[in-house]
Amino acid sequence: MSFDRSIKIAPSILSADFANLGAEIRAVEAEGADWIHVDPMDGHFVPNLTIGPNVVAAIRPHVTTFMDVHLMISPADPYIGDFAKAGSDMITVHAEAGPHLHRSLQSVRAEGCKAGVALNMTTPLDHVADILDDIDMILIMTINPGFGGQKFTHAMVDKVARCRAMVGDRPIHIQVDGGIDPDTAPLVAQAGADVLVAGSAVFRGGSVDNPGVYGDNIRAIREAALNAV
Ligand code: DX5
Ligand code: ZN
Repeated sequence: MSFDRSIKIAPSILSADFANLGAEIRAVEAEGADWIHVDPMDGHFVPNLTIGPNVVAAIRPHVTTFMDVHLMISPADPYIGDFAKAGSDMITVHAEAGPHLHRSLQSVRAEGCKAGVALNMTTPLDHVADILDDIDMILIMTINPGFGGQKFTHAMVDKVARCRAMVGDRPIHIQVDGGIDPDTAPLVAQAGADVLVAGSAVFRGGSVDNPGVYGDNIRAIREAALNAV
Protein backbone atom coordinates (compact mmCIF):
# COMPACT_ATOMS: atom_id res chain seq x y z
CA MET A 1 0.00 0.00 0.00
CA SER A 2 1.48 3.35 -1.01
CA PHE A 3 1.75 6.07 1.59
CA ASP A 4 -0.59 9.00 1.57
CA ARG A 5 -1.67 11.57 4.11
CA SER A 6 -5.31 11.83 3.09
CA ILE A 7 -7.90 11.49 5.85
CA LYS A 8 -8.74 7.85 6.57
CA ILE A 9 -11.63 6.71 8.76
CA ALA A 10 -10.92 3.53 10.71
CA PRO A 11 -13.98 2.11 12.48
CA SER A 12 -13.06 0.32 15.71
CA ILE A 13 -14.94 -2.97 15.80
CA LEU A 14 -14.90 -2.77 19.59
CA SER A 15 -18.28 -1.05 19.19
CA ALA A 16 -19.60 -3.63 16.68
CA ASP A 17 -21.86 -6.60 17.40
CA PHE A 18 -19.32 -9.25 18.49
CA ALA A 19 -21.75 -12.02 17.54
CA ASN A 20 -21.68 -10.79 13.96
CA LEU A 21 -18.20 -9.40 13.33
CA GLY A 22 -17.80 -10.57 9.74
CA ALA A 23 -21.05 -8.95 8.63
CA GLU A 24 -20.30 -5.80 10.64
CA ILE A 25 -16.92 -5.42 8.90
CA ARG A 26 -18.44 -5.97 5.46
CA ALA A 27 -21.13 -3.40 6.28
CA VAL A 28 -18.78 -0.61 7.39
CA GLU A 29 -16.47 -1.25 4.44
CA ALA A 30 -19.41 -1.07 2.04
CA GLU A 31 -20.38 2.19 3.73
CA GLY A 32 -16.99 3.84 3.27
CA ALA A 33 -14.54 2.68 5.97
CA ASP A 34 -10.93 3.07 4.83
CA TRP A 35 -9.31 0.80 7.42
CA ILE A 36 -10.63 -1.67 10.02
CA HIS A 37 -9.29 -1.05 13.54
CA VAL A 38 -9.07 -4.06 15.86
CA ASP A 39 -8.44 -3.75 19.62
CA PRO A 40 -6.98 -6.82 21.39
CA MET A 41 -6.84 -6.27 25.19
CA ASP A 42 -5.32 -8.49 27.84
CA GLY A 43 -6.95 -7.53 31.16
CA HIS A 44 -3.48 -6.61 32.41
CA PHE A 45 -2.15 -3.70 30.35
CA VAL A 46 -5.70 -2.36 30.27
CA PRO A 47 -8.67 -3.24 32.51
CA ASN A 48 -10.63 -5.08 29.84
CA LEU A 49 -10.44 -8.35 27.89
CA THR A 50 -11.38 -8.52 24.23
CA ILE A 51 -10.05 -10.64 21.41
CA GLY A 52 -7.04 -12.75 20.57
CA PRO A 53 -5.27 -13.95 17.44
CA ASN A 54 -7.85 -16.65 16.64
CA VAL A 55 -10.62 -14.08 16.32
CA VAL A 56 -8.36 -11.81 14.28
CA ALA A 57 -7.68 -14.73 11.93
CA ALA A 58 -11.42 -15.46 11.71
CA ILE A 59 -12.30 -11.91 10.67
CA ARG A 60 -9.37 -11.52 8.27
CA PRO A 61 -11.24 -12.86 5.20
CA HIS A 62 -13.93 -10.23 5.74
CA VAL A 63 -11.48 -7.31 5.61
CA THR A 64 -10.83 -6.09 2.08
CA THR A 65 -9.31 -2.72 3.06
CA PHE A 66 -6.51 -2.70 5.65
CA MET A 67 -6.50 -4.50 9.00
CA ASP A 68 -5.04 -2.22 11.67
CA VAL A 69 -4.41 -4.12 14.92
CA HIS A 70 -3.90 -2.05 18.08
CA LEU A 71 -2.38 -4.32 20.71
CA MET A 72 -3.22 -3.33 24.27
CA ILE A 73 -1.28 -6.22 25.73
CA SER A 74 1.86 -6.42 27.81
CA PRO A 75 4.25 -7.96 27.08
CA ALA A 76 3.39 -7.78 23.39
CA ASP A 77 6.49 -9.50 22.02
CA PRO A 78 5.41 -13.12 22.65
CA TYR A 79 2.23 -12.55 20.62
CA ILE A 80 3.47 -10.48 17.68
CA GLY A 81 4.04 -13.59 15.56
CA ASP A 82 0.54 -14.89 16.27
CA PHE A 83 -1.14 -11.59 15.37
CA ALA A 84 0.97 -11.34 12.21
CA LYS A 85 0.07 -14.86 11.14
CA ALA A 86 -3.57 -14.01 11.81
CA GLY A 87 -3.31 -11.56 8.92
CA SER A 88 -2.68 -8.14 10.45
CA ASP A 89 -1.57 -5.49 7.96
CA MET A 90 -0.43 -3.09 10.70
CA ILE A 91 0.49 -4.08 14.24
CA THR A 92 0.67 -1.24 16.76
CA VAL A 93 2.39 -1.86 20.07
CA HIS A 94 2.20 0.46 23.05
CA ALA A 95 5.44 2.21 23.98
CA GLU A 96 4.61 1.43 27.62
CA ALA A 97 4.07 -2.28 27.05
CA GLY A 98 7.64 -3.48 27.23
CA PRO A 99 11.24 -2.48 27.92
CA HIS A 100 12.49 -2.76 24.34
CA LEU A 101 10.15 -0.94 22.00
CA HIS A 102 12.66 -0.96 19.15
CA ARG A 103 12.97 -4.74 19.35
CA SER A 104 9.17 -5.06 19.22
CA LEU A 105 9.05 -2.89 16.09
CA GLN A 106 11.79 -4.94 14.47
CA SER A 107 9.76 -8.09 15.21
CA VAL A 108 6.64 -6.59 13.63
CA ARG A 109 8.48 -5.62 10.44
CA ALA A 110 10.30 -8.95 10.32
CA GLU A 111 6.86 -10.58 10.19
CA GLY A 112 6.06 -8.47 7.12
CA CYS A 113 3.62 -6.07 8.83
CA LYS A 114 3.63 -2.30 9.08
CA ALA A 115 4.79 -1.21 12.54
CA GLY A 116 2.89 1.29 14.69
CA VAL A 117 3.65 2.75 18.11
CA ALA A 118 0.88 3.86 20.44
CA LEU A 119 1.58 6.54 23.03
CA ASN A 120 -0.60 6.80 26.10
CA MET A 121 -1.59 10.32 27.00
CA THR A 122 1.21 10.72 29.55
CA THR A 123 3.92 9.26 27.30
CA PRO A 124 5.92 12.01 25.58
CA LEU A 125 6.74 12.13 21.89
CA ASP A 126 10.43 11.97 22.86
CA HIS A 127 9.90 8.26 23.40
CA VAL A 128 9.93 7.68 19.64
CA ALA A 129 11.93 10.69 18.39
CA ASP A 130 15.14 8.72 17.84
CA ILE A 131 13.60 5.75 16.02
CA LEU A 132 11.32 7.38 13.48
CA ASP A 133 12.81 5.45 10.55
CA ASP A 134 11.58 2.24 12.17
CA ILE A 135 7.97 3.37 12.54
CA ASP A 136 5.11 3.38 10.01
CA MET A 137 2.50 4.98 12.29
CA ILE A 138 2.32 6.87 15.57
CA LEU A 139 -0.95 6.44 17.47
CA ILE A 140 -1.68 9.34 19.80
CA MET A 141 -4.17 8.08 22.38
CA THR A 142 -6.85 10.66 23.14
CA ILE A 143 -8.36 8.61 26.00
CA ASN A 144 -7.04 6.08 28.50
CA PRO A 145 -7.14 2.81 26.55
CA GLY A 146 -9.49 0.02 27.52
CA PHE A 147 -13.00 1.04 26.60
CA GLY A 148 -14.98 2.66 23.82
CA GLY A 149 -17.33 5.56 24.39
CA GLN A 150 -15.02 7.74 26.47
CA LYS A 151 -14.70 11.49 26.19
CA PHE A 152 -12.00 13.00 23.95
CA THR A 153 -9.12 14.69 25.78
CA HIS A 154 -8.61 18.13 24.26
CA ALA A 155 -5.09 18.51 25.64
CA MET A 156 -3.98 15.92 23.05
CA VAL A 157 -4.62 18.23 20.08
CA ASP A 158 -1.36 20.07 20.69
CA LYS A 159 0.45 16.72 21.00
CA VAL A 160 -0.85 15.74 17.56
CA ALA A 161 0.44 19.03 16.14
CA ARG A 162 3.86 18.50 17.71
CA CYS A 163 3.87 14.93 16.38
CA ARG A 164 3.07 16.18 12.88
CA ALA A 165 5.98 18.63 13.08
CA MET A 166 8.32 15.91 14.33
CA VAL A 167 7.34 13.53 11.54
CA GLY A 168 8.01 16.10 8.80
CA ASP A 169 8.31 14.49 5.36
CA ARG A 170 8.70 10.96 6.68
CA PRO A 171 6.09 8.42 5.53
CA ILE A 172 4.62 7.98 9.01
CA HIS A 173 0.87 7.99 9.57
CA ILE A 174 -0.49 9.86 12.58
CA GLN A 175 -3.47 8.10 14.11
CA VAL A 176 -5.79 9.26 16.87
CA ASP A 177 -7.97 6.94 18.94
CA GLY A 178 -10.62 7.75 21.51
CA GLY A 179 -13.64 10.03 21.47
CA ILE A 180 -13.38 10.88 17.77
CA ASP A 181 -16.69 12.15 16.35
CA PRO A 182 -17.77 14.96 14.02
CA ASP A 183 -17.01 17.52 16.75
CA THR A 184 -13.49 16.36 17.57
CA ALA A 185 -12.39 15.10 14.12
CA PRO A 186 -11.75 18.64 12.80
CA LEU A 187 -9.46 19.43 15.73
CA VAL A 188 -7.18 16.45 15.18
CA ALA A 189 -7.31 16.66 11.38
CA GLN A 190 -6.25 20.30 11.48
CA ALA A 191 -3.45 19.37 13.88
CA GLY A 192 -2.15 16.81 11.38
CA ALA A 193 -3.71 13.42 12.11
CA ASP A 194 -4.54 11.38 9.00
CA VAL A 195 -6.00 8.14 10.45
CA LEU A 196 -9.08 8.72 12.59
CA VAL A 197 -10.24 5.74 14.66
CA ALA A 198 -13.88 5.88 15.70
CA GLY A 199 -15.88 3.20 17.46
CA SER A 200 -19.06 4.48 19.04
CA ALA A 201 -19.38 7.40 16.59
CA VAL A 202 -19.44 4.95 13.63
CA PHE A 203 -21.57 2.11 15.02
CA ARG A 204 -24.04 4.24 17.01
CA GLY A 205 -27.61 3.89 15.73
CA GLY A 206 -26.85 1.41 12.94
CA SER A 207 -26.78 -2.35 12.41
CA VAL A 208 -26.04 -4.82 9.65
CA ASP A 209 -29.75 -4.60 8.82
CA ASN A 210 -29.60 -0.82 8.76
CA PRO A 211 -26.09 -0.12 7.46
CA GLY A 212 -26.94 3.23 5.91
CA VAL A 213 -26.53 4.75 9.38
CA TYR A 214 -22.90 3.56 9.39
CA GLY A 215 -22.44 5.37 6.08
CA ASP A 216 -24.00 8.54 7.45
CA ASN A 217 -21.81 8.37 10.55
CA ILE A 218 -18.61 7.77 8.55
CA ARG A 219 -19.42 10.59 6.13
CA ALA A 220 -20.16 12.99 8.98
CA ILE A 221 -16.75 12.34 10.56
CA ARG A 222 -14.91 12.49 7.24
CA GLU A 223 -16.60 15.69 6.05
CA ALA A 224 -16.01 17.42 9.38
CA ALA A 225 -12.33 16.45 9.18
CA LEU A 226 -11.93 17.44 5.53
CA ASN A 227 -13.49 20.84 6.16
CA ALA A 228 -10.73 21.51 8.67
CA VAL A 229 -7.69 20.69 6.50
C1 DX5 B 1 -10.01 1.91 23.29
C2 DX5 B 1 -9.76 1.54 21.87
C3 DX5 B 1 -10.48 2.35 20.87
C4 DX5 B 1 -11.97 2.41 21.08
C5 DX5 B 1 -12.41 3.79 20.66
O1 DX5 B 1 -8.96 1.56 24.11
O2 DX5 B 1 -8.37 1.61 21.55
O3 DX5 B 1 -10.14 1.95 19.54
O4 DX5 B 1 -12.72 1.47 20.37
O5 DX5 B 1 -13.76 3.94 20.92
P1 DX5 B 1 -14.51 5.32 20.77
O6 DX5 B 1 -14.31 5.79 19.35
O7 DX5 B 1 -15.90 5.00 21.11
O8 DX5 B 1 -13.84 6.28 21.73
ZN1 ZN C 1 -7.81 1.28 19.43
